[in-house]
Amino acid sequence: SWTPDTFVDSTVKALKEQLGNDKVVMALSGGVDSSVAAILVHKAIGENLYCIFVDNGLLRKNEFESVLESYKHMGLNIKGVDAKDKFYDALRDVTDPEQKRKAIGRVFIEVFDEEAHKIKDVKWLGQGTIYPDIIESVSVKGPSATIKSHHNVGGLPDYMHLKVVEPLNTLFKDEVRRVGTSLQIDAAILGRHPFPGPGLGIRILGDINPEKVRILQEVDYIFIQGLKDHGLYDQVWQAGAILLPVQSVGVMGDERTYENVVSLRAVTSLDGMTADWCHLPYEFLAKISNDIINKVKGVNRVVYDISSKPPATIEWE
Ligand code: XMP
Repeated sequence: SWTPDTFVDSTVKALKEQLGNDKVVMALSGGVDSSVAAILVHKAIGENLYCIFVDNGLLRKNEFESVLESYKHMGLNIKGVDAKDKFYDALRDVTDPEQKRKAIGRVFIEVFDEEAHKIKDVKWLGQGTIYPDIIESVSVKGPSATIKSHHNVGGLPDYMHLKVVEPLNTLFKDEVRRVGTSLQIDAAILGRHPFPGPGLGIRILGDINPEKVRILQEVDYIFIQGLKDHGLYDQVWQAGAILLPVQSVGVMGDERTYENVVSLRAVTSLDGMTADWCHLPYEFLAKISNDIINKVKGVNRVVYDISSKPPATIEWE
C-alpha cells in the first residue's frame, strides 16, 4: 500500500534513472507543491537542480526574503530574481482580471525564460503539478473558471524545448503534505495556505501600483499574523485581504478622512472548489479591524466577506 516513505524512495530512484546527469530547472513559489517537488528532485540529482524564485512584486510582505532563506536552509541551489518593476510596468492601467492574469503570466515566462537560458545545457523543466491540477485544467467549471489559467499546468514555455518532469502528478494535496513531512520539510511551508500565482495582483481590484501593493501587504500581514497569533491559522483553509476600488468617508480626531476600504476574506474548504466563509470570532475581527485602521495609513474601513462559494468565488477577481 501507499506510504509517504515508499513513495519518496521509489520516486527518488526513478528520478535518478530518468535524469541521470542532466540539469533541471524549476520555478519555486514558496507553496507546498513546488517545494516538495523540488526537494524530491534535489534528493535525486543534487546541484544539477537549478531553482528560480521570482519576486513579481505581488507577494506577501517579507515573503520573498523569508521564502528564499528557507529554501537556502533546505540546501536548494536557488536564485532569487527581483523582477518587480517588470511586472508593475506590464500591469500599469490594466484593470480586467483576466488581462491581469495574462500580463502576469507573460512577464513571468519572460523572466523565467531569461534565467533558464543562463543555465548551460539545461534539459528538463521540473514542475510541482499535482493530480487535481490536471483534472481542473481540463474540466469546465463555468465561464470564468475555465480561463483562470492555472499557473503550473502548461504555463511554461514549450519553445524552450525542455522535457517536463512532474514527480507529484499522481498525488492529491494531503498526500503531498505527507510526503513533505516524510522529507522533513518545514511545517511552516507544509501548512501554508494556498496563494494564487498572480498573488496580490488579483486582490487589488482595478489597476495596480506599488503604493496599493504596499497598503495591501500591510493589511494582509496584520490579518495573517493575527490568525497565527490567535491559533486560528490552521483552522482556515485560505485567508487574505482585498483592496477595494472605493473610498469611504471616515473621521480621525476632528478631521474627516476619505480613504480606502479593505475586505477580509477567510474560508474553509477541502479543495477550493466549494468553500464556506469562516465564522471567525467577533473579538478577533474587532481587534484586527482596529489594528488595521490604526496602523495602515490609507485605510479607514474594514469589512468582512460573508459569501460562500458558490455562488461567490474565493478570490474577488
Ligand atoms: P476561486 O476564486 O476560483 O479560487 O474560487 C479557487 C482557488 O484558486 C486560487 N486561484 C488561483 N490560483 N492562479 C492560481 O495559481 C490563478 O489565477 C488563480 N485564481 C484563483 C484561489 O486563490 C483559490 O485558492
